[in-house]
Amino acid sequence: MTEEERLGKEAAERVLARSGKKKEEVEKEENEKQQSFLVEGNKGSHIKHVIAVMSGKGGVGKSYVTASLANCLKNKGFKVGILDADITGPSIPKLFGVKGPAYAVEEGSYPVESKGGIKIMSINLILPDEETPVIWRGPVIAGAVKQFWTDVIWGELDYLLIDMPPGTGDVPLTVFQSFPVEGIVLVTSPQQLVSMIVNKARNMASMMGIRIIGIIENMSYFECKKCGERHEIFGKSDLDAVSGAAGIPVLAKLPIDPSVAEFCDKGDVEALSDDEFEKAVGAIIL
Ligand SMILES: Nc1ncnc2c1ncn2[C@@H]1O[C@H](COP(=O)(O)OP(=O)(O)O)[C@@H](O)[C@H]1O
Ligand SMILES: [Mg+2]
Ligand SMILES: [Zn+2]
Repeated sequence: MTEEERLGKEAAERVLARSGKKKEEVEKEENEKQQSFLVEGNKGSHIKHVIAVMSGKGGVGKSYVTASLANCLKNKGFKVGILDADITGPSIPKLFGVKGPAYAVEEGSYPVESKGGIKIMSINLILPDEETPVIWRGPVIAGAVKQFWTDVIWGELDYLLIDMPPGTGDVPLTVFQSFPVEGIVLVTSPQQLVSMIVNKARNMASMMGIRIIGIIENMSYFECKKCGERHEIFGKSDLDAVSGAAGIPVLAKLPIDPSVAEFCDKGDVEALSDDEFEKAVGAIIL
């Protein structure tokens, strides 16, 4: 040990002795600080809970589920925002019928508010032309999502829901590393290999130390007006077995409902009933 190193060590020990912390504790704190990639949000954001909505593939109704969960939370009196992290397939503004451009000031951009007062930020509210597809590369996309955290003035929110891009790629990794995500809601449909999706999501969640709150199966069945029975159009999924084995609760089984498609298409997702989402929201606010 050189003289300098010895002096440094002594100084460190004096500080430790004064702070009343054990050396191991301080080392642990230093480690945690280094391992944490958490990014500080905008100064104008005060967000209590961040929840991510994930799916295996696109087109299973993830955005519809995110929107409906937000709506159900809002109807319970919570202040809610949606961060549309699906940069290459953004659909949240369309579901709510909101348009940009988001109002920007030096400190950041303000989310656009839906009719019901849900705060929304999406690439479609930033880019001048929402018809132009985003053809950025992975790191640029991940950077844009990060900016929705750092450069958006969310204000006071009880819940920020993140509509994730499908799968377990770059963006989910960035989101889980950079944002303080508290839990994940997984959306599946009976058309998919549910076991694979659940296992992938579970692996990612456990790697990131985030809990999976539960699974919502969309397009689960069709309630027939003719015979009054529930037809399982896509066949019976093995969701119950998979969720039982994984110890993750099923929070809802949503029917195929033509009015869902209709109201989503006309930007009126908030007018749909939120009854089917009560149990899921109960699990989120637990
Ligand atoms: N339960 C449902 N019944 C009928 N149509 C639905 C249902 N869920 C979603 N849809 C429709 O399916 C399409 C895809 O839904 P979306 O939420 O955008 O999927 P994702 O975000 O997973 O890509 C939308 O046009 C939506 O209106
Ligand atoms: Mg979507
Ligand atoms: Zn029938």
